[in-house]
Amino acid sequence: MRLIIQENYENMSKWAANYIANKINAHKEDRPFVLGLPTGSSPIGVYQELVKKNKAGEVSFANVVTFNMDEYLGLPREHDQSYWYFMHDNFFNHLVDMKPENINILNGMTDNPEEECARYEEKIKSNGGIDLFMGGIGVDGHIAFNEPFTSLNSRTGVRNLTTDTRIVNSRFFDNDMNKVPAQALSVGVGTVFDSKEVLILINGHNKARALAATVEGSVSHKWTCSALQNHNGSIIVCDEPACGELTVDTYKYFLDIEKEERL
Ligand code: GLP
Repeated sequence: MRLIIQENYENMSKWAANYIANKINAHKEDRPFVLGLPTGSSPIGVYQELVKKNKAGEVSFANVVTFNMDEYLGLPREHDQSYWYFMHDNFFNHLVDMKPENINILNGMTDNPEEECARYEEKIKSNGGIDLFMGGIGVDGHIAFNEPFTSLNSRTGVRNLTTDTRIVNSRFFDNDMNKVPAQALSVGVGTVFDSKEVLILINGHNKARALAATVEGSVSHKWTCSALQNHNGSIIVCDEPACGELTVDTYKYFLDIEKEERL
């Protein structure tokens, strides 16, 4: 696992956007580059940077297929808190060459969630798997909507959200947790970890415990993000405030070995 410590949110976002753009540009295979994407406040800066680069002609999305991590169950696309809406509003609508047919987001209005999730897994496979999955994490360490104690081998499926997560996400629903859907469709921890690379953004004081659990804790389904330790191509990009619960040794170690920029 790599841990890239950046001074602040802006630098974290720039680092991650550069990394992703370089990977897309370096992709020389016949098939498209397959990119996994998250929602949330953490990736907004990365999306803004990627849009800038795309408009400046520094990276093209014409040969990129995307798969989003998750979607609330029961929210229509037009709802301003659906992840479909979020992704179009914050990212896809601003790219000059993203093909709508290359965008994949779980359908939260499906009549048959099991079938929808199986279809999604199959579609990831038929696209050759995910090259790079970007993600964020919840304060309880959840990755996508894989709450504590979800199997580390889980696949795409229906997830019940914890009260904690609904309270945290109620900031987008008039601060009323009862308005936050109780269930979501989500890729599994196993789905994310099948990707060639996983890049997770962790920023802010409120994620400090989760970062420490991810980097220094034991691999455990209690902190689903800790499975990153067993992935060969995992990178966490964080800001200084998120480092608050790391030991000084850990902090120094990663600053030391990441001194030289490498890709
Ligand atoms: C939601 C999403 C996660 C995301 C998390 C953190 O629960 N399902 O994929 O990582 O929020 O969001 P934020 O970046 O706003 O802290």
